[in-house]
Amino acid sequence: MCGIVGYIGSKQAYPILMEGLKRLEYRGYDSSGIALQQDHDGRLLVVKAKGRISALEAIMKGQCTTSTLGIAHTRWATHGAPNDVNAHPHTDMSGKLAVVHNGIIENWSALRQLLEQEGVKFKSDTDTEVLAHLFARYYTGDLEKAVQAGLREVRGAYGIAVIHADQPDVLVAARNGSPLIIGVGTEEYIVASDASAIIEHTKQVIYLEDREMATLRRSGLHTSTIDAVPTHRAVQTVEWSLEQIEKKNYEHFMLKEIMEQPESLADTMRGRMDVEAGEVILGGLSDATKQLTHARRVVLTACGTAWHAGLVGEYLFEDLARIPTEVDYASEFRYRNPIIDEGTIVIAISQSGETADTLAAVREARLKGALVLGIVNVVGSSIARGTDAGVYLHCGPEIGVASTKAFSSQLEVLIMMAMYLGRRKHLAPYQAREIIKGLQQVPEQVRHVLKLNKKIQDVAEKYKDCPNWLYLGRGYNYPVALEGALKLKEISYVHAEGLPAAEMKHGPIALITEGMPVVFLANRGLQYEKVLSNMEEVRSRGGHIIAIATEGDNSLRRLAKHVLHVPDVPEPFQPILNVVPLQLLAYHVAVLRGCAVDKPRNLAKSVTVE
Ligand code: G6P
Repeated sequence: MCGIVGYIGSKQAYPILMEGLKRLEYRGYDSSGIALQQDHDGRLLVVKAKGRISALEAIMKGQCTTSTLGIAHTRWATHGAPNDVNAHPHTDMSGKLAVVHNGIIENWSALRQLLEQEGVKFKSDTDTEVLAHLFARYYTGDLEKAVQAGLREVRGAYGIAVIHADQPDVLVAARNGSPLIIGVGTEEYIVASDASAIIEHTKQVIYLEDREMATLRRSGLHTSTIDAVPTHRAVQTVEWSLEQIEKKNYEHFMLKEIMEQPESLADTMRGRMDVEAGEVILGGLSDATKQLTHARRVVLTACGTAWHAGLVGEYLFEDLARIPTEVDYASEFRYRNPIIDEGTIVIAISQSGETADTLAAVREARLKGALVLGIVNVVGSSIARGTDAGVYLHCGPEIGVASTKAFSSQLEVLIMMAMYLGRRKHLAPYQAREIIKGLQQVPEQVRHVLKLNKKIQDVAEKYKDCPNWLYLGRGYNYPVALEGALKLKEISYVHAEGLPAAEMKHGPIALITEGMPVVFLANRGLQYEKVLSNMEEVRSRGGHIIAIATEGDNSLRRLAKHVLHVPDVPEPFQPILNVVPLQLLAYHVAVLRGCAVDKPRNLAKSVTVE
């Protein structure tokens, strides 16, 4: 997982590439590098540095060069330790050809052996360096042809940008499995792993497909398949503004994204509710209405936080649509030879739309003939394009590695989809109308929950040094317990476990010691009394309870050390409100522990490797 950016035009490439790298830093941040074709002698200046992009910037301060063609990279190591040598760009033996790469070359070892037998000397431990030597092997003055020939021998995932010192007017880009977008300016192009590195310069973009490449010259571009069949890609307009992507005045993207949930939830719903008719309008599903009406089974598949959303989806689909539903980790689904028949709908949930396992699950499900839908945030992403139909989250770009606002919008879309299916089965308009009215209040209710911020910070202060946490909930709130624990693990590096509350007595109860923080989702609802019994069990063993409770419920004060009240809403909506205090709790614990909240160690925003 890495970020790549490349520029060809008449402006100075360095500031554009640097700015782009900073925007892509969320995709990887263990090392970075840049290759610029220098105006004065035509040679490539290649500079790489271990660590954050600021380390590269510091080295580049000493270099004074002008250049209008270059490529750059921010890395999240897969093959080879994060260090200067393994950082990209990688060059061939002549130092004339440079490549940046996001993805994994699966047959790199065989290719490396072959190249070494031919006398190639490798400098790094990376799979990417193979590409540089392979392209050089085929280079006879035409960079496009060399890349094409090389890629035909490659198995694996890649988004690449390639330049050559002898070709001052060519940048070649290609993709297979990893994202790559081309920004189209006036006599200039920017290639990047995502739109955030481009939109400051142009909103006109071209999305490359798998096994497709583009040859960019200042005078124009052309695209073709890796097998040299010409292709035609329409120029599209990106809707996100740079301001949306920026941090505003918040210290971290994660906090900004938690705080903007009232707006993002409203955006997700906008124009999709018809209260009068008791209907949700999901344009992205219109082509699939017939199949959806006859669906007999739903399989939700995803990874990480999106998988937790899927777990809530199981309750929603069975409750509101009365359709048997299962949830599967995408990584398990794809390898398990799942049973899919024509009455099965597979729904893939993904913020980025690029998660490798989820994308592979989509492909497997389609291969087996299922109708495959996507719930995706990034417009035009691989999963969005690889599914039969779907619903976009429209919650704006999410930059913090730990997913927050995308999760709440995923829950909202799942409620809408469950209603959509329910209306085609047993739900009466008046029932749907009640749900819609309730859902429309959720953004304001979330705004109300956000007012707990200070109180949650105090709770975080008290427990920040505790090494173990438990999160417990039942029914709709069981997946929320899992998500709360995941948030804490991801960004504060504290061990936390989320469980269905009733499971505690089958083992984890042995962990409870004096003063251990145990977070309970204890809203009023069907299983409220049962949750209270679980709280008694924890309290009697010395656990310190932090309870999320329904507004007006003061009876929990006897059991809990801290009670955080949220508005009283029907159970299907509780996860959206309940997750907010848990996001804030994880955030404050991480900040108090001095952790890099937006870029937690070992994690990446978009996991495009298996
Ligand atoms: C990574 C991220 C998680 C995310 C998961 C799935 O692990 O760190 O926050 O939930 O990938 O990502 P997706 O983009 O498919 O929702």
